[in-house]
Amino acid sequence: MGAQPPEIALDIRDLRKNFGGIRAVDGCSLAFPRGQISGLIGPNGSGKTTTFNLLTGVIAPDSGAIYYNGDNLAGLKPYQVFRKGITRTFQITRIYREMTVFENMLSASRLSVPERQGRARAEELMAFVNLTHLRDEYGGNLSYGQQKLLEFARALMPDPDVILLDEPAAGINRTLLADLLTHIHRLQGMGKTIVIIEHDMNVIMNHCAKIFVMDYGLKIAEGPAQEIQRNEQVITAYFGHR
Ligand SMILES: Nc1ncnc2c1ncn2[C@@H]1O[C@H](COP(=O)(O)OP(=O)(O)OP(=O)(O)O)[C@@H](O)[C@H]1O
Ligand SMILES: [Mg+2]
Repeated sequence: MGAQPPEIALDIRDLRKNFGGIRAVDGCSLAFPRGQISGLIGPNGSGKTTTFNLLTGVIAPDSGAIYYNGDNLAGLKPYQVFRKGITRTFQITRIYREMTVFENMLSASRLSVPERQGRARAEELMAFVNLTHLRDEYGGNLSYGQQKLLEFARALMPDPDVILLDEPAAGINRTLLADLLTHIHRLQGMGKTIVIIEHDMNVIMNHCAKIFVMDYGLKIAEGPAQEIQRNEQVITAYFGHR
C-alpha cells in the first residue's frame, strides 16, 4: 500500500471504472497537493467527471484506492465522504429550484451542526459570494451564474478541507467568474485543497499550481502550466486527429 505523503491531500491510485465496454477511468493515479489549487483537464469524455464521482462516492470504483488522511475512501457512500470534509459542485448545477437561496444553503449543513450555528454560517457564506440580496429568492429564479455561485457557497457550508469544482466557469459571465476566482484563492489562503475541472484554459493556466491531464481514462501529464502547455502528448490529445 505505502503511506500517503503528508503534502498530498488526496492520493488516487490505479483507479478504474468501466461502464459496459467504456473504460471511463482506466487505471488512473492522481496525487492532489494539500493546500493548493489543482486543475484537472482533458478532452470531452476523458473521465474527469467520473473521477469526481468516484472520489465523492456517487459511484463505486471497480478497483483502485483513494487515500485521504490515512483512510481509503473507495466505495464509501456520498454522505460518508461528505462527513470526512470533502465537498463538490456538479457540472450541471444541482441546487433546489423550489427552495430559496437561504434554504438551499441550510440543506447542506452537517447534521452535527446546531441549527443556530448553521444559519449563521449560511448568512456568512451568502455574504462571501455576494448573494445576500437574493437570500429569499427561489433557486429557480436565479441566473445560471448565480446558481453556480449558490452551489459553490453551499459546498462550503460544512467547512470542507477539500473542495472539488466541476466546470465552475462554464456559462458564467466575466464578472461572476472574477468573483469566483477571488473566492477560490481566498479558500486556498485558508489552507483548503481545491481541485478544478475546467475547459476554460485561462482559469486553468493562470490559477492552478499544478495541472493534471486525462485522456481516455488515463493521466497523460502532470505539472505546472508552463510544462503542460508545451507537452506534446497534451497538444496531441487536444488538437491531434482522433
Ligand atoms: N453513468 C454512466 N454510464 C455510462 N457511461 C458513462 C457514465 N458516466 C460517464 N460515462 C462515459 O464515461 C466516459 C467519461 O465520461 P466523463 O463524464 O467522466 O467525461 P468528462 O471528462 O467529464 O467529459 P466532459 O469534459 O465532456 O464533461 C464517457 O465516454 C462517458 O460517456
Ligand atoms: Mg465532465
